[in-house]
This record gives sequence, structure tokens and C-alpha cells, in this order.
Amino acid sequence: MNFKKTLEEKTAFAEAVLKKYLPREEGFQIRAAQAMNYSAMAGGKRLRPVLMRECFLLFGGEGELVEPFMAALEMIHNYSLVHDDLPAMDNDEYRRGRETTWKVYGDGMAVLAGDGLLNLAYETAASAFDQATDLQTMRRAAQALKVLGNRAGLGGMIGGQCADIEAESAQNVTEEALLFIHENKTAALIQAAMMIGAILAGADQKAVEAMERAAYLIGIAFQIKDDILDVTSSQEVLGKPVGSDERNHKLTFVSLHGLKKAEEEVEKMSREALKILTSFDRRNEFLEELVSFLITRER
Ligand code: IPE
Ligand code: IPE
Ligand code: MG
Ligand code: MG
Ligand code: MG
Repeated sequence: MNFKKTLEEKTAFAEAVLKKYLPREEGFQIRAAQAMNYSAMAGGKRLRPVLMRECFLLFGGEGELVEPFMAALEMIHNYSLVHDDLPAMDNDEYRRGRETTWKVYGDGMAVLAGDGLLNLAYETAASAFDQATDLQTMRRAAQALKVLGNRAGLGGMIGGQCADIEAESAQNVTEEALLFIHENKTAALIQAAMMIGAILAGADQKAVEAMERAAYLIGIAFQIKDDILDVTSSQEVLGKPVGSDERNHKLTFVSLHGLKKAEEEVEKMSREALKILTSFDRRNEFLEELVSFLITRER
């Protein structure tokens, strides 16, 4: 199996699923719809929907039940980035190799595009119920919907973004605050991906909890890597500005512990996550390779 080629195919599939649910550009709301599509179709890695589907497959999931949730989570991720780039937040002008949504459409439209994507996400996820013909499937979809709302909300991504902003002006920053930020602003959506995949496939509670822990490790490693790349990469490779964290006085693992320790931590956490992923009766080799690949990713 050629990992890179398979990853490309799976990324393209996730993108096609997302595209099906994006809004039509028409009517008096056309500008917001354009801004939503501009941000959602800018060519991200589609990591979260790919992870979700692979976890669904790991636990023997079949059919299309996972697809509305794949699209929904990618919409939420994209909304979080549209708002994250706003002048009121990280004030960044480039993402995925082109101008950020607010740079092209203005702040007001960018706020609305984010709000639009967030609402569309739940409308889309709820459409999974249309596919459910039995009570068990309905229950799984309902549980998945709850996880999505929880991991994206105040006790998850929004909470992390809140602490991230607060830490910019904090006098003494603690390891505890750093971990809270990583866990919530980033690991929470990775947890949503992996837990929802498992839940929809019918994994038992113990397995879902194991996925929650694996995703925690993968998510924190992912954010540490993001912070490393913010220091070591270039805008050409990364598609977004480097040095954004320093400019914004962000609290990151790199600013607190240095690059070497950060690299070691990414490796260590990813290995620990892999131990969990290889502990089930069933295996998903592609998923395992994907987690290893994230350690050395360049964007
Ligand atoms: C960027 O996420 C924001 C973080 C949580 C670090 P990704 O690196 O997954 O962004 P895209 O979707 O591939 O652009
Ligand atoms: C963003 O973290 C995480 C979310 C948007 C929830 P960053 O601010 O580091 O992400 P980038 O570097 O702008 O993609
Ligand atoms: Mg940010
Ligand atoms: Mg940012
Ligand atoms: Mg960053």
C-alpha cells in the first residue's frame, strides 16, 4: 500500500463529501455563501473527516452514516479558522496559500461565514437521522451529535480559544494553562473526529473512551507540531504566516520549552497514541500510518 497515494484519495473523498453539503451561492445572502465556500474549499488537509472515517472503519462501520458527520466536523473546523484569523483574534492575512476570509470579504462577512458554517454543521449532522431506519442507529447518531456539540463548545474548542486569548496578556503562564489550551482548542475537535467514528460504528463505551485518550494525545502532538512549524517553516510551505505566535505573544509548548523538547514530545505522545490504536482486536494500518506521518508533516 502506498501511503501518500491512499492519503490523497481519502482526502479527496472527504472533500467531496464536504462539498455536497456546502451552500448554493444565490439570493440576497449570496455574499455570505461565497465567503463560506471560499473558506471551506481552500484546500485544507481534511485531517478530521479522514480520521473520523478511519476510526469508523476500524470498528467495522459500514455505509454512509458517517458522511454527514465528516462534513459537519470539517465545517466546524473551518469556522474556527475563519474566526481565529480575524483581526480581533490572531489577525492573520494568509491561510492555505491564499488570503484569509476576512481579507477578501471583510470582517463582517467573515463573522457571518463562520456563523453560517457552524449552523450548517449541525443541520448537516442531523441529516444522518434520515439514513437511520432502526432505533440503534438513531441512538448512535444522537450520541455522536452530543459529542460534536460538546467537543466544539465551551468545554472544548471555544474554551481553548478563550484561554489562548487570555494567555496572550497573562503575567505568569503555567504548564497547566498550556495543556488546557492545547487540549481544548485543538485536541477537542480531534476527539470529536475519532470518538464519533467509533460511536457510529457501534464501538462499546470502553473503546470510545480509549479513542478519546488516543485523540487527546494525537491532538496535543498536532498542536505542538503546529507551533513548531510556526517557528521553523516558511509561508510558502505552510500556506500561512510563520511567526504568528510570537507576534501575538502566544503561549505555546515551543515558547515554554524550546524546539528540541517540543519535537521529542510530539514523538512521545504519538507513540503512546499508537499503542492505544494497536490494542484493539481489529486494526487499521492506514490509520496507524497516518498518526506516524503527522509527526513529520511539513504543513
Ligand atoms: C490548523 O489546523 C489549526 C490547528 C488546530 C493547529 P489544520 O492544520 O488541520 O488546518 P488545515 O485544515 O489543514 O488548513
Ligand atoms: C488554532 O490554533 C486552533 C483553532 C482555530 C481552534 P492556531 O491559531 O495556532 O492555528 P493556526 O496556526 O492559525 O492555524
Ligand atoms: Mg489562534
Ligand atoms: Mg491562528
Ligand atoms: Mg498555529
